[in-house]
Amino acid sequence: MPPPTALTVGGIFRDAVRRFERAGLHYGHGTHSARDDAAWLILHTLRLPLNDLRSHLRRALTPLEKRRIARLVERRVRERIPVAYLLHEAWLGEYSFYVDPRVIIPRSFIAELAREGFAPWLRRPVRRALDLCTGSGCLAILLAERFPTARVDASDVSAAALSVARRNVARYRLGSRIRLVRSDLFARLGGRRYDLIVSNPPYVRASSMSTLPREYRHEPRAALGGGADGLELVRRILVEARAHLAPGGLLVCEIGHNKRALERAFPSLPFVWLDTSAGTEHVFLLERDGLPLTTGASSSARRAKSGRGAQGALPRARRTSRA
Ligand SMILES: C[S@@+](CC[C@H](N)C(=O)[O-])C[C@H]1O[C@@H](n2cnc3c(N)ncnc32)[C@H](O)[C@@H]1O
Repeated sequence: MPPPTALTVGGIFRDAVRRFERAGLHYGHGTHSARDDAAWLILHTLRLPLNDLRSHLRRALTPLEKRRIARLVERRVRERIPVAYLLHEAWLGEYSFYVDPRVIIPRSFIAELAREGFAPWLRRPVRRALDLCTGSGCLAILLAERFPTARVDASDVSAAALSVARRNVARYRLGSRIRLVRSDLFARLGGRRYDLIVSNPPYVRASSMSTLPREYRHEPRAALGGGADGLELVRRILVEARAHLAPGGLLVCEIGHNKRALERAFPSLPFVWLDTSAGTEHVFLLERDGLPLTTGASSSARRAKSGRGAQGALPRARRTSRA
C-alpha cells in the first residue's frame, strides 16, 4: 500500500524531492534544485500551470496520474535523464520548445540578450540574422520573434538536430521566415551577409567531457565537445564570421568558461563581454570591423570542397593558444 501522503500532489511532491535529494542529482537543464525539478515534472504531467504548485497541493491524484509521475521520478533518479527530456519540453524565458536527445536542452544566455534586442549594441534594423549551430532552433525562433520583419537562417551540421528545429519552427509558425540549413558552420550558407550572427557552439573542453555529470551524457556529444581546449569551433567562427556580416553587423557568441583561453588565443581582438545572469564572462560580442580579415573562400567552404577535417584548416590563433 502506498503511504497516504503520496495520494495528493503535495504528498507526491515531497516524496519526489526527497528521492531527488538523496540521489544527489545534478541540475542545470532548466532548473536549479530538486524542488523545481519535482514541481515541473508533476505539474506538467498533470497539465497544471507551471507557476502554481501551492494551490494544487491538496489535490488528490488518480491511480493513473500517480503511476505516471512515479515512473518519471524513477527514470529521473535511476537513469539521470533530465526532466526536459522526460517531458519533451524545455523553456527559455516564456518560450517553450520540443526537445529530445537529438538536441541539447536549451539554456543559452544569448536568450536573455535577444529578449533585450541586444541593446545597446545593436543600433541598426535586423533584416537578416543567422543562428549558427541552432540545435533545437531555439535562438533562431527567439530572433524571429524579437525582430518581426527579419529573415533568419538557422544552421547546424546535424540533420537530426535540424529535424527537431523544424518541429519547433512549425510550432511557432515561422516557416516562412526561418530557413533551416544543414551546414558545417558557414560552409553552405552561400554569399549572404547578415546584420546579426548569434552562436552557441559546442565549447566543452575534452578534459571536462569525461567528468560531466551523467545528466549531460544524454545530450549529443557533438553538441557539447569543443575539442582539446573547447575553442575549436569558436576559432573557426571568429576567422570566418566577418565575410558573412553586413557592414555594421554584429557577432554574438557564447563560450562557457573559456574567456581567458580565448583572449590569449586572439589577443588583438576587441572583445566586448556581455552581461547576463551568469556574469560577464560567457558571451562576447564583436562588431564586423573588429573581426579578423579573411581573403577568398571561408575555411568552412574550402573544407566542404576539399573534404578536409575540422582539425586541418585552423589559423595562426591555434598556434598561439596555450589552453
Ligand atoms: C551547444 S549546441 C547549441 C544548440 C542551440 N543553439 C542552443 O543554444 O540550445 C551546439 C550545436 O552545434 C552543432 N554543431 C556542432 N558542430 C557543428 C559544426 N561544425 N557546424 C555546425 N553546427 C555544429 C551541434 O549539432 C549542436 O546542435
